[in-house]
Amino acid sequence: MANEPQPEITIDEELMLRPWTHDDVAVAITAFAAADIQHWHFRRFDTKLEAAEWITGLNRGWAEETCATWAIVFRPEAMVVGRVSIHTDLEDGHGEVSYWVLPHARGKGVATRACVAATEWAHALGLNRIQLQHSTRNQGSRRVALKAGFVEEGVRRGANLHADGWHDMRLYSRLADDPV
Ligand SMILES: CC(C)(COP(=O)(O)OP(=O)(O)OC[C@H]1O[C@@H](n2cnc3c(N)ncnc32)[C@H](O)[C@@H]1OP(=O)(O)O)[C@@H](O)C(=O)NCCC(=O)NCCS
Repeated sequence: MANEPQPEITIDEELMLRPWTHDDVAVAITAFAAADIQHWHFRRFDTKLEAAEWITGLNRGWAEETCATWAIVFRPEAMVVGRVSIHTDLEDGHGEVSYWVLPHARGKGVATRACVAATEWAHALGLNRIQLQHSTRNQGSRRVALKAGFVEEGVRRGANLHADGWHDMRLYSRLADDPV
């Protein structure tokens, strides 16, 4: 990963993935002000500096080969509409995908398309298994996982601590040689 710049990925005529930059501080603040993004992703920003540090950390993830995070961009308006990440375990050949979409851009297949594109990128990198997890209380994420072709494996009981307590986490995977 780190011996090359993080790539931009064109998904289709509407969407592309590109690395986050410090010009995205305002949209990062807006995103984590949304109650559900804050809830499911355990983060909020009280200052521009905190958002800028988050973006610096994303870029460090690429340099350290631990995580590839992209802004999901609506191409016609060059507008950031979400985020998709692959946490990478290069040694074991595994990864884990996660995503959020800004409220105004939901219901148009943005998360599904970005999840598929990021997972394909990870498989092309050489990772065999990409997993995905969501709280059993997050029905939207379940629909994205299934539409993106992930296979359900089971429930990890009491696995993640959220603001309202411990949640069971539903686990899925997509392997490099899973059928399209
Ligand atoms: C979940 C989330 C990523 C979905 O983004 P999106 O771009 O609207 O998703 P898509 O348009 O690709 O939708 C895929 C499917 O999920 C369904 N879906 C999306 N949100 C849903 C919700 N809240 N409840 C039920 N179904 C939902 C869509 O209807 C669609 O199914 P369909 O095509 O059969 O109708 C977005 O709502 C979000 O960012 N939520 C807050 C953060 C979050 O939950 N992140 C995931 C943490 S694991």
